[in-house]
Amino acid sequence: MRRNSTIGDVIIELIEIDSTNNYAMRLLNEGMAEHGMAIRADFQSNGKGQHGNVWHAEECKNLLLSVILDTRSFSLDKLFYFNAFSCICIADLLMSVYNLRDISIKWPNDIYAGDKKIAGILIENNIRGTTWTNAIIGLGLNVNQTHFTDLHRATSIAIESALTVKINLVLENLLKSMNKFIHRLDTNPEELLKMYNASLYKLNKQISFSKNAEMYTGKLVGVNEFGQIEIEVKNNIQKFKHKEIEFILD
Ligand code: BTN
Repeated sequence: MRRNSTIGDVIIELIEIDSTNNYAMRLLNEGMAEHGMAIRADFQSNGKGQHGNVWHAEECKNLLLSVILDTRSFSLDKLFYFNAFSCICIADLLMSVYNLRDISIKWPNDIYAGDKKIAGILIENNIRGTTWTNAIIGLGLNVNQTHFTDLHRATSIAIESALTVKINLVLENLLKSMNKFIHRLDTNPEELLKMYNASLYKLNKQISFSKNAEMYTGKLVGVNEFGQIEIEVKNNIQKFKHKEIEFILD
């Protein structure tokens, strides 16, 4: 598998699958995968979210996509840059193509429109020995779905723009965005981190969070290259790993 093809040169479109990430993993295990392959499904019967959650998405209404990337030339300490890359591609698409306002990245990898989640990302990695061989970037972007069980916290392009958009067009534009930014993983990953931080949800704002059942408040000052969030608590910058703390949103 070589890293010379364009992302989305090969697109596999499925009507129904357990999970596009699982499908991508099976292709990799069978030696059938290529760098840049994109797998899209109308419906997932077992869509996977972060922390072992189920990712629910109404049939034919959303973009459910996995992209396979060859990561052999990267060391695992660059993992967070892939996360930043994925977030930026979606945020860029929503801002520049769909003109959505108030798009931000909620640490570590949710995309928000205002205070509601519009997209989520689940990156799964293949590691052989000490070599990071592949990343599967799985993303669920809410497109035309307008009813959510937790409407208070979820939104979609249709809700935010009052437009119904073609999912294939969203896919095409997202792939463009990915091809626009992918090279920066090689040439200037720090810039990706800068862009990530520039779009960070609640940046420089006071946030409440919990750690080991204790509540804290502090100012969110940024995210570092290892993906740790930096929060100023009582004039002290503290760094936390993903899952070490939980945001408390109103
Ligand atoms: C999250 O919990 O926010 C991450 C959601 C990721 C969902 C996408 S949908 C396409 C891909 N296939 C999966 O099973 N999950 C990801």
